Amino acid sequence: MRRVVLLVCVVLGACSWRTVLWAGAAQHQTTTTDKAASDGGKTAEQQFKNIKVLKDVPAEQLIPTMQFITASLGVECEFCHVEHEMEKDDKKEKQTARKMIEMELAIDKYNFDGDLEVTCYTCHRGSAHPVGTPMLSAENTRPPAPHVHEHEGESDASLPSADEILNKYLAAVGGAEALRKIKTRVQKGTIDALGHQFPIEVYSEGPDKRVSISHPNGGSSVTAFNGAVGWLTIPNGVHRMTPMEREGARIDAQLYFPLALREMYQEFEVQPGEQINGQTTYLLTAKGEGTRPDLRLYFDQQGGLLVRQVRYAQTPLGKLPTQVDYADYRATDGVKIPYQWTLARPNGSFVIRVTDVQQNVPVDEKLFMAPSEEKGK
Ligand code: HEC
Ligand code: HEC
Repeated sequence: MRRVVLLVCVVLGACSWRTVLWAGAAQHQTTTTDKAASDGGKTAEQQFKNIKVLKDVPAEQLIPTMQFITASLGVECEFCHVEHEMEKDDKKEKQTARKMIEMELAIDKYNFDGDLEVTCYTCHRGSAHPVGTPMLSAENTRPPAPHVHEHEGESDASLPSADEILNKYLAAVGGAEALRKIKTRVQKGTIDALGHQFPIEVYSEGPDKRVSISHPNGGSSVTAFNGAVGWLTIPNGVHRMTPMEREGARIDAQLYFPLALREMYQEFEVQPGEQINGQTTYLLTAKGEGTRPDLRLYFDQQGGLLVRQVRYAQTPLGKLPTQVDYADYRATDGVKIPYQWTLARPNGSFVIRVTDVQQNVPVDEKLFMAPSEEKGK
């Protein structure tokens, strides 16, 4: 049981097992008692018991916001919360956090036109206690490279255009025609999470359905997206993905990803990328809209294949990153697919290694049927 929870937690992106049980409990509560919540109906104030600052935030964004805070401070939920009674204000850290939220919003409002330039992470950098005095050590860690709009508007003549990069990528995987010939894909292998290994199967159907079923301790844990909605099994039932989670799942589910990219995104920007696993890359930034996340895509300059994808889910206090690294591309029925991918979030990561791929085999449509509202009770 513990292992199931561990795995689910990594998949959900909030990583102590407790974190997820709590988040799960909170979301379970909301999704089952009121299905309008996931349709963007309620505010956090209406949905939860004791909200004083994040009142007008959509209810479904509260947990991602909490995940952002937790990752920024490098703590667990219990740093601020009394277990199972998250509405309680007993811990002074929670009260401090409220003031900090107000401070962040005020700083950004008065200095940055309301853009979230300063966030919890700007000061906290993964620690509950920010340091205000410069360090003497020459070895102190430098902040990571800034992101996206570094050279806004500037175009570097030595860089290829977004079109060239996308065309090269499409050609490298085998071309549009070969890609479209693949209707289904069944992958079997192992998932390695927090030092534990379990079998996993991933069922995909074009253009955008995907279900992965892992088997921690012989049980089964499902993450699914069927083109319209997404869901995950959690210890106490089924969690329906929020619109934001769903957009992430939609990207992972694209069977024709190199083609889908141009349909999902209109605005691209090219920059030199960093070295990734010894490969020199180009960085293609795609601007998202609404709940569709911004993407950073790193392509191998030589071979043209996608080696890394980073996407950002916007929360009311800052962005939560998810990174997927693709490796071990092999030609299979005329298309190149990664046999290994590593998914990382601020609090954990897992690796999937595929050992067996079958394409254009029948896939049971029942796998893609969302569990009914009632079923989770
Ligand atoms: C640094 C402190 C801090 C951490 C860590 C934290 N929270 Fe919170 N949480 C808060 C504050 C502050 C509020 C109240 C916000 C408000 O009043 O607008 C809150 C409110 C909540 C609520 C609403 C409770 C209710 O009914 O009123 C839930 C649910 C919640 N948090 C879940 C979590 C989960 C799950 C985690 C771990 C992923 C977490 N929190 C981590 C500070 C924190
Ligand atoms: C402008 C810088 C800055 C920002 C932005 C900021 N903090 Fe802080 N925070 C601090 C400083 C400085 C302290 C005091 C550190 C200490 O006591 O060692 C602190 C302390 C805290 C503490 C108390 C820690 C403890 O152990 O008592 C919490 C909780 C906290 N911050 C949460 C947050 C949250 C949540 C956010 C984002 C909404 C945030 N902070 C944003 C600078 C910042």
